[in-house]
Amino acid sequence: MTASRVVVLVSGGGTNLQSLLDAERAGTLGDAAVVGVVSNRPGVRALERAAAAGVPTRVLDHRAFADRAAFDAALRAEVEALGADLVVLAGFMRVLTEGFLAGFVDRVINIHPSLLPAFPGVRGPAQALQYGVKISGCTVHFVDAGLDTGAVIAQAAVPVRDDDTEETLAARILVEEHRLLPAAVADLAGARLRREGRRVHRVP
Ligand code: GRF
Repeated sequence: MTASRVVVLVSGGGTNLQSLLDAERAGTLGDAAVVGVVSNRPGVRALERAAAAGVPTRVLDHRAFADRAAFDAALRAEVEALGADLVVLAGFMRVLTEGFLAGFVDRVINIHPSLLPAFPGVRGPAQALQYGVKISGCTVHFVDAGLDTGAVIAQAAVPVRDDDTEETLAARILVEEHRLLPAAVADLAGARLRREGRRVHRVP
């Protein structure tokens, strides 16, 4: 059995974190268990969700660090201390550098609210509406040092409606995120995925 200690990095509401906690409780997260939550912002709802589930939390306020390298080094130490096998960025609004990523090769994933490589960065749903695409969605991908540029693990499509606003489109995409992310974590924990270059395959 492949056990996976999952540490989730958050910055805000934490509904994706909640989807992982709910999946774990429902027995659908496979061999994965959420063992810690780290936020770069104090007082966010995601920390309350973790505490309510009995998961240890840490706050590393990025504003208290001299630069990105110092923050990433401290974050890496925290995540290593929590014994992470897999690091999940769930609404974590900081770009990570090699100083962090080198400690967790192929073990950091992110959930993003667009069909990458379209609309990376902030406000994916707003960018999709602005561009006028008819289909958007969400992507789970490995994290590299770029902005939402790592190899794609899983995607789900969400049709754009003529009367969509940023809020309504984001809300429908979020529903798919909450399904896609726990499934990807379960697959990774069960060693059912293999990355070859940019392509991630299901192991037969
Ligand atoms: C999600 O749309 C996620 O894809 C994006 O930020 C949002 C965070 O939502 N990166 P939550 O904090 O998980 O509720």
